[in-house]
Amino acid sequence: MCEKKIHDGLQDVLACKSSICRIEMIDGKAILEYRGYDIHELAQHSTFEEVAYLLLFGELPTKSELEAFSEELKELRELPPQIIGLLTHLSPFSHPMVVLRTAISYLGTMDKHIHHKSHEKSLQKAKSLIAKFPTIVAYFHRIRSGQNLVHPSDELSHAANFLYMLHGVEPTKTEAKAMDLDLVLHADHELNASTFAARIAASTLADIYACVVAATGTLMGPLHGGAAQKVMEMLREIAVPWRAEEYVKMKLERGERIMGFGHRVYRGVVDPRTIELRALAEKLAKEKEPKWFEISRAVEEAVYKYKGLFPNVDFYSASVYANLGIPDDLFINIFAISRISGWTAHIIEQYENNRLIRPRAFYVGEAGRKYVPIDQRG
Ligand code: CMC
Repeated sequence: MCEKKIHDGLQDVLACKSSICRIEMIDGKAILEYRGYDIHELAQHSTFEEVAYLLLFGELPTKSELEAFSEELKELRELPPQIIGLLTHLSPFSHPMVVLRTAISYLGTMDKHIHHKSHEKSLQKAKSLIAKFPTIVAYFHRIRSGQNLVHPSDELSHAANFLYMLHGVEPTKTEAKAMDLDLVLHADHELNASTFAARIAASTLADIYACVVAATGTLMGPLHGGAAQKVMEMLREIAVPWRAEEYVKMKLERGERIMGFGHRVYRGVVDPRTIELRALAEKLAKEKEPKWFEISRAVEEAVYKYKGLFPNVDFYSASVYANLGIPDDLFINIFAISRISGWTAHIIEQYENNRLIRPRAFYVGEAGRKYVPIDQRG
């Protein structure tokens, strides 16, 4: 008999103290805050640079602090030639998330201070990774599609510059704002699987690149950040809004999951990020291609009707990215471009208040078996 309670999937387990992200259910409504600031307020007023600063330093920056931080990020955007060489040598058919984690690992080999974990050094590495993620993703995409590299522009914000490097033309105001808002909304989410992976690695005092590689690998799975790419596959398969209900019903009858629905933490409540992303997807749909949003709405209604589930952060991200002209297989990378800010904030917090994360498993295999020499095994 198992007397100890097993927390399957570590559901509802409090694994550490953190002052970075707060998720709370109050009166049937979900509250999400970064460092105490409500996500809806940040979505309305903030920018990715400001949110990244907030996550890393714990406070909203003053005007001059924000300017200095944004300038620093700009100066760190360009990639060393060795990394560009690596991107050129990797198979153009590799998934861009595999490429991203390979490039992060390579960046680690070029950091002479890779093992230094002082607050200052860790912040420096965090800023460099935040600044370089968009460049890695955009450069690989241009290389694999046989296009010239578009180098970072000092004139553009983090979000606008990413779209510029990816597409080779400056985004419109609406596109830049949409990208920026998406990055704000994905920046942190407490102990989601990839952040937890990063913290586990950090708890062994592994270097920051190792922690970020662990997080990047974990984010890629379809039950986590990989869901947005799967959502897009689904929207393409459904193709027209009137087919959504039939599709959802059929999938659920077969016992299959609908990607972009359900959440470990928001059970029976709406993910606050979904509210913002739905509104953003609708706004873009009015100005660009309305089809993806219309199919998404029909899917949302059908999943609620047949399963009572709400969409999660990955669901409306898909139609937002499609309307920003982002290829489907870069969707997870966009998540990473934002979440690197949260990952690094958590890694630094873990380093500074560390205890090795090492849970136990409840053993259910055979016990006390006698070793049998190989020539006696039948
Ligand atoms: N489609 C159909 N049924 C679902 C889904 C779904 N997407 N998600 C949960 N359920 C059902 C599940 O079958 C179970 O039903 P029942 O009680 O009838 O057996 C019930 O909801 C509870 O599910 P669970 O397995 O306890 O949920 P979990 O907390 O273990 O898993 C999840 C959470 C996100 C992995 C899951 O909801 C899922 O697989 N969703 C689809 C993938 C996805 O969208 N992932 C993105 C997650 S959010 C952002 C991020 O982390 O990147």
